[in-house]
Amino acid sequence: MVDLEVVKDIALGAGEILVQKLHSGVSVEAKGSIDLVTDADKASEAYVVEALRKRFPRHGILAEEGGRTEGSSDYLWVIDPLDGTTNFAHGFPYFCVSIALVKGEEMVLGVVYDPVRRECFVAEKGSGAFLNGRRITVSRASTLHSSLLATGFPYEIATTERNNLEPFGRVNKASQGVRSLGAAALDLCQVAAGRLDAFWELVLQPWDLAAGGLMVLEAGGTVTGCAGEKFSPLGHDVCASNGLVHAELLQLIKG
Ligand code: IPD
Ligand code: CA
Ligand code: CA
Repeated sequence: MVDLEVVKDIALGAGEILVQKLHSGVSVEAKGSIDLVTDADKASEAYVVEALRKRFPRHGILAEEGGRTEGSSDYLWVIDPLDGTTNFAHGFPYFCVSIALVKGEEMVLGVVYDPVRRECFVAEKGSGAFLNGRRITVSRASTLHSSLLATGFPYEIATTERNNLEPFGRVNKASQGVRSLGAAALDLCQVAAGRLDAFWELVLQPWDLAAGGLMVLEAGGTVTGCAGEKFSPLGHDVCASNGLVHAELLQLIKG
């Protein structure tokens, strides 16, 4: 079927494009009031989409900048060519490429590549999660009081009621800290690697959460929506944890 090595190589190629652009200078445009897009987002996406289309011509594509193209099979590639655009535009070195393959609501595989640290996270359903070839597992923290977490805020933070500020305050007070690192797909991989105990965010897109969601599940963690509902890789929110702190976290998010 789909060779994970092929997808990994595509993610690595896209990561190289991002790093080169970072060094050669980035041109930034605004999509919304604080929502940016750069020439690097577009170049990375063009590379990933062309490479996937060439190898998997029957599969559909859902990519952040170009939208959805239906294929003639049930398989859909879900692509964030640059997750962490605001970080990237400021030269803050925390961003990634995220590529997932889904079949309906089922997650088949995920690859997330951080080109700054040269860390490649991969997961295939039922086969575990790996970082640069080594198996990774979620942490063993059993209370929020002993946990380090991350979250994020929507670009519409100034205008939406779902701004996550109250949950952020509650969880921050109950834990060892809540970071807002600015690249949801990579944050999910930090949970999978046991470096963070949990991550949640309320207003996301499938390309932010599909690959990272599978990574956490395959690393032995728990992934749901923020109200505790079944996780969908095509959904819009995520609560991902080591499993042990999940119920406590969901309770505080709800308030
Ligand atoms: C964003 C990042 C950020 C999250 C935003 C996303 P982008 O993706 O994942 O961490 O808080 O909600 O939109 O725009 O950098 O691809
Ligand atoms: Ca994103
Ligand atoms: Ca993006």
